[in-house]
Amino acid sequence: MVERYVMSVDQGTNSTRCILFDHRGRLVSVAQREHQQHFPRPGWVEHDAVEIWHNLRRVVPEALSDAGVEPDQVAALGLANQRETTVLWDRRTGAPLSRAIVWQDTRTGPLVEDLRKHPGEAFFLDRCAVPPSTYFSALRIRWLFDHVKGVEQRARDGEVLFGTMESWLIWNLTGGAGGGLHLTDATNASRTMLMNIRTLGWDEELLDLFGVPRPMLPEIRSSAETYGEARSVLPGVRITAALGDQQAALFGQTCFSPGEAKCTYGTGGFLLLNTGGDPVRSRHGLLTTVAYRIGAQPPAYALEGSIAVTGALVQWFRDRLGLISSAPEIETLARTVEDNGGCYIVPAFSGLFAPRWRSDARGVVVGLTSYITKGHLARAVLEATGWQTREVVDAMNADSALPLRQLKVDGGMTADNLLMQFVADVLDVPVVRPMVAETVSLGAAYAAGLAAGYWSDLEVLRRNWHRAAQWLPGMDPGHRESEYDNWRRAVERSLDWVR
Ligand code: G3P
Repeated sequence: MVERYVMSVDQGTNSTRCILFDHRGRLVSVAQREHQQHFPRPGWVEHDAVEIWHNLRRVVPEALSDAGVEPDQVAALGLANQRETTVLWDRRTGAPLSRAIVWQDTRTGPLVEDLRKHPGEAFFLDRCAVPPSTYFSALRIRWLFDHVKGVEQRARDGEVLFGTMESWLIWNLTGGAGGGLHLTDATNASRTMLMNIRTLGWDEELLDLFGVPRPMLPEIRSSAETYGEARSVLPGVRITAALGDQQAALFGQTCFSPGEAKCTYGTGGFLLLNTGGDPVRSRHGLLTTVAYRIGAQPPAYALEGSIAVTGALVQWFRDRLGLISSAPEIETLARTVEDNGGCYIVPAFSGLFAPRWRSDARGVVVGLTSYITKGHLARAVLEATGWQTREVVDAMNADSALPLRQLKVDGGMTADNLLMQFVADVLDVPVVRPMVAETVSLGAAYAAGLAAGYWSDLEVLRRNWHRAAQWLPGMDPGHRESEYDNWRRAVERSLDWVR
């Protein structure tokens, strides 16, 4: 019998990656292409959606040919994507109307301040379960309407479509201007500020408030169901899943039961806790988000602590400061010194996300003396990820009845042993990493394979999870708390910077 595989495409902030998985959830082949990051002004971050689509068209055949797999051996295709990044395109020609505005972009800061005053944070928490922030898509649609001539009217006339990356790619895969499907899934829609968190439909009042016309919006579908067949790249292959990448990682880590949590360390850090069938409202600065929805089953929800900058700080250290030439070197450099030398870096490049939600914060380096070397700075870079995780876990413990007992981790930064030990130390819980570190891709493949009948149920997927590494906490409690106190004092200094 001919072997069959599930393919997933993870369209992330930095790259587009295609992976083939076999029935045991093992990675068979990987192909990846980075796309350009555009920083046209301070605080602005943009991507070229066409470049990303072209990258998808290249990585899919590369992954197939690497494994010697024919397209008809692909049982299903699932997508995971960077969330909130906003693309508007012409329905007729398929051309984007501007570069995509990325989730890290802070240009909508003034609008956030207006929304905080009116209708106020409580209104949004009640409707879409997230506070006003530059993070979410609706503000970017509004910004584009206000700054790109004619777009708002054209959207009202039904000529312009909105999507996050999964919508854009599925539309192109299924025919594009020749009749592509325009859809999103509930996990991605829950990041727009336009979806009602309980009904999982577009919310009329939110649409009115942002002035977003309904004809430009994709249809909201579940995260795992047959959407349609690809017409290009993989003609005839069914597309059966789409999830925001962080929800996909939760799925790939098989956190299917309430109380299970994972943290993915990529550009940013995203800690999600499965809270089951009810959207739990956070009182401590976390987001309520849709974790996944399988077919016609009721949705599962999650509490999320989003950290805007973790790996992006290492990239900045490498690309903008030039203090290392590759990301893994940060660990070697940090190990040249015993400690941070009294130096702390708060990477509020996109303001601060959870649990503070301060769009007006900007990055600071504190504690500089002539004693500080680049080794100390490297430590401070890594420690910033640990302390930001601690703040999110504190919020999660305060919100949920069950304190976190173990943290499942994944993502590129988990290759850094010094960092993972630091995370275990500052959280004071064991940190574990699975064999398949590509959990975003795996989660999208799992969802796609479930919908296509490639895997029968969640239990089969659970059995595929195997621990590859574990870090046990070992820091002296007094030292931990005094360092945490220093970190919080550093964060205080990053606030109120933007006037
Ligand atoms: O919310 C933003 C998140 O989805 C981005 O994830 O891994 O592409 O940086 P990543």
